Amino acid sequence: MNFASDNAGPMHPKVLDAVIRANEGHQMPYGNDTIMEDVRAKIRATFEAPDAAVYLVATGTAANALTLATYTNSWDTIFAHRISHVEEDECGAPEFYANGAKLTLVEGDAARMNPDALRQAILHTGDKGVHGVQRGPVTITQATEVGTLYSLDQIAAITAITKEFGLKTHLDGARFANACAALGCSAAEMTWRAGIDMVSFGGTKNGCAGVEAVILFDPDKAWEFELRRKRGAHLFSKHRFLSAQMDAYLTDDLWLQLGARANANMARLLAGLESIDGAEIPDRPEANMVFAHLPRAAHRRAMAAGAKYYLFPFDASLEGPDDDLIRCRIVCDWSKSETEIDQMISTLRG
Ligand SMILES: Cc1ncc(COP(=O)(O)O)c(C=O)c1O
Repeated sequence: MNFASDNAGPMHPKVLDAVIRANEGHQMPYGNDTIMEDVRAKIRATFEAPDAAVYLVATGTAANALTLATYTNSWDTIFAHRISHVEEDECGAPEFYANGAKLTLVEGDAARMNPDALRQAILHTGDKGVHGVQRGPVTITQATEVGTLYSLDQIAAITAITKEFGLKTHLDGARFANACAALGCSAAEMTWRAGIDMVSFGGTKNGCAGVEAVILFDPDKAWEFELRRKRGAHLFSKHRFLSAQMDAYLTDDLWLQLGARANANMARLLAGLESIDGAEIPDRPEANMVFAHLPRAAHRRAMAAGAKYYLFPFDASLEGPDDDLIRCRIVCDWSKSETEIDQMISTLRG
């Protein structure tokens, strides 16, 4: 019963087969493999963006940090939600790759940036002349770090503001597939049609071993991105194995199918969690991840049975009154079986 993260799950067999097929013979290194040509074409077709620049890296942190750095001067600030991966879980990589640029944190319910708060943050940044950092790009996360979604209108409301100030908007799509499947929209609708300029398109959490695509809808900065990727030590020489993963992931919209499956798994789990006495779920999950407040006794039973998921704080004690609520994060990936989900629920319920 491992519900710790969607990156705790396995590779999808089709992705694994593609990696094995890619192992035959020789291929040119550093992204010059023939599979990458297919990946580029498939991403451009999927996103209906024939001119987009497309690159692969192995981690979401690299995708976010290198992309943001490409659009950030070292004297700029990047606007991000207070609860975002770039702020909380990348050990300062965006600031590091952007040569010491700053992050300005923006508030908003359910880890969604509030447009008015963003406007205020941008206005506040612009009012100190040479003494203050300058305005850099805005980054939003879809699905968010608490498992909620921006609607297409909410994305457009953010990008309308960034465009008004002449700024760019990045979308951290580590869970892009889950969001797209849940909204039932196209990749184009969730990105450039809603005003997004660049995307980190996740594969690792959704059936790949370690690959994320960076998509720059305006290819003007493509060469700069390539230089930053190499200089940042994220250009793989055996790149064909990244390409093979992403190629299989894009073929026949496997990414979307797996995202939908992970969401369906979460819906089943959620129904069970809601039936636990005393459970509180402040932000209704809209994709494949839930933050729930569950009674200590439920956690004690689950942990005793070997279940894996995160408690908050990490070192929350299982000793104490049974009914005290302890916050936790539970994530479903595409590979969870109904049996495992039902077992998790019956263990929590006792
Ligand atoms: C929203 C978000 N962005 C990016 C990442 C990618 O991180 P990593 O560098 O671990 O692949 C994650 C992974 O947890 C994430 O949740």
